Amino acid sequence: MRNEFAKDFPSTDGATIPTYSTEATRDFYTRTWESGTRHSTVVVRHVKDAKLAAYTAVQFKEGSTAAAQQSPWVAKDFRGHHLSTLAKTANALTLAKKGFRYIDTENATNNVEMLATNRRLGFYLRGCEGDFVSVYRNGTWTSA
Ligand SMILES: CC(C)(COP(=O)(O)OP(=O)(O)OC[C@H]1O[C@@H](n2cnc3c(N)ncnc32)[C@H](O)[C@@H]1OP(=O)(O)O)[C@@H](O)C(=O)NCCC(=O)NCCS
Repeated sequence: MRNEFAKDFPSTDGATIPTYSTEATRDFYTRTWESGTRHSTVVVRHVKDAKLAAYTAVQFKEGSTAAAQQSPWVAKDFRGHHLSTLAKTANALTLAKKGFRYIDTENATNNVEMLATNRRLGFYLRGCEGDFVSVYRNGTWTSA
């Protein structure tokens, strides 16, 4: 999943596509777990063939009120059906039951699909950073 996401994750100009080995991924999750960080993840699979369609994850520490959005992603074949809205809503309901009141996220302004999804879900602007990133769309990186 991490490799699929990395292929079209909005990235700084001149980006190359990183790949993550199973070992590196296991190491990442082991170290974050040992640091007291927890993940809540929603994975969507197609009922017909169990093909991976979408996933989303947040990180959080028990006892806090805000979780941090990690990596919403919808497989190219499944985009255009609001799957990221559904996956993020399912995760938000789980977090609300745990007592979380906020989810913090970052959104490149040229990532229009993610921006529309987040607005629909009730996210609002709290601040900004002056990074310039490109979005991978229709086979190429575009910066605006
Ligand atoms: C961002 C992403 C998860 C959205 O996938 P999705 O759930 O299939 O999104 P949809 O195509 O259903 O569109 C979601 C919203 O964007 C809008 N949208 C779609 N294409 C658009 C466009 N070209 N311009 C403006 N809005 C657009 C839709 O109308 C919809 O808005 P609505 O909820 O108000 O109706 C998906 O594009 C993706 O995986 N991108 C690569 C990874 C990524 O960028 N993740 C986010 C990193 S922060």
